[in-house]
Amino acid sequence: MQIISKADQLREKLGVWRAAGDRIAMVPTMGNLHDGHLSLIRIAKQHADRVVVSIFVNPTQFAQGEDFENYPRTLERDQLKLKKVSAHLLFVPEVETIYPFGLDRATTVSVPAFSQDLCGSFRPGHFDGVASVVTRLFALVQPDVAVFGQKDYQQLLVIRRLAEDLNLAVQVIAGPTLREKDGLAMSSRNQYLTDAERKIAPALHRVLSKTAEALQSGNRDFAVLENQGLKELQASGFTPDYVSIRHAESLAVPGHDDGQLVVLAAAHLGAARLIDNVLVEI
Ligand code: PAF
Repeated sequence: MQIISKADQLREKLGVWRAAGDRIAMVPTMGNLHDGHLSLIRIAKQHADRVVVSIFVNPTQFAQGEDFENYPRTLERDQLKLKKVSAHLLFVPEVETIYPFGLDRATTVSVPAFSQDLCGSFRPGHFDGVASVVTRLFALVQPDVAVFGQKDYQQLLVIRRLAEDLNLAVQVIAGPTLREKDGLAMSSRNQYLTDAERKIAPALHRVLSKTAEALQSGNRDFAVLENQGLKELQASGFTPDYVSIRHAESLAVPGHDDGQLVVLAAAHLGAARLIDNVLVEI
């Protein structure tokens, strides 16, 4: 596996692969890789000849007071994991490579259709940061395919829309959420949990699954179900931001007869802000 940090070296390498007719897949990450990330890389390998993984803790998607400084940076361990899944190239740019004109006056990409609601209303600017960095990574790598985890459901829709709206020649693929045995979605932020909080954390998925089951069995009292979910999370020890039932494609508040739904939640537990979602097809 080759490790590259500079844009010109990256372009050169990708040029050689493209000249040989290789299809290129990309898995953008912020590092601290876990099995969830590795599953995305395996999916990427099914769709392309070469897989580029990027590790870049993107400052523009963290607001003041969030965990940018403390975000776990584990490059050496990540490299070993990437070698085991035979990723072809690891791109580890410096901030200057991604934002050559600095952060303050950087060109930004905004996807208002999906960015302002749900997590967007609790983390203003977050999805502009995500959309901007992903657009920059796509511009550098120009992948044929890019794979993102479904755990970050709203992020996935932001990225799908930006690729479609900007006519980017990249196919955005969703990788299913990988879970621990007790149902907790794998996330780099799980390591912020204390032992006691880790025992509580699977309640997030339990509450979402229970809400999904109620929807499956015909309950359409969306507001009541959301409220119940919030109360159950609070009773378990979470401080929830939201529990929300939405249309799975538009993220709009669903109508009574909508059959493609997603139940999403974000909740704080100690130092961790956890997110999760469950799709419901009726
Ligand atoms: O999901 C993440 O790890 C990040 O938001 C992403 C997509 C790599 C952009 O920084």
